[in-house]
Amino acid sequence: MALKLNVIDREGNQKIIDIEEGTTIRDAIDDELFPDNYGVCGGCCACGTCHVYVKPSDYDKLKAKEDEEIDTLESLALEPNQYSRLGCQVEFKKEHDNMTVTIAPD
Ligand code: FES
Repeated sequence: MALKLNVIDREGNQKIIDIEEGTTIRDAIDDELFPDNYGVCGGCCACGTCHVYVKPSDYDKLKAKEDEEIDTLESLALEPNQYSRLGCQVEFKKEHDNMTVTIAPD
């Protein structure tokens, strides 16, 4: 059964999308909502355009960032903050069900 991901888009609208376990947040958002200029490199941690802000109460449910994700966030993502993640580097798990992310500005 698909899990659920709450997504707040760049216009501030909230959508609830289906996401399969093991799918990245980037792929689920791209498939369901196809925002402009989102996930441009296809998920190889090279563009920073899959940047999302994780709801603070959900942030600690995610596994820690690898160095490559930190580097891309710092060098390419717009307006990163302490709750920033790259959607392509977060594989969705059961324990992430119903979490909320906001798509960062492009
Ligand atoms: Fe390019 Fe995530 S899709 S860094």
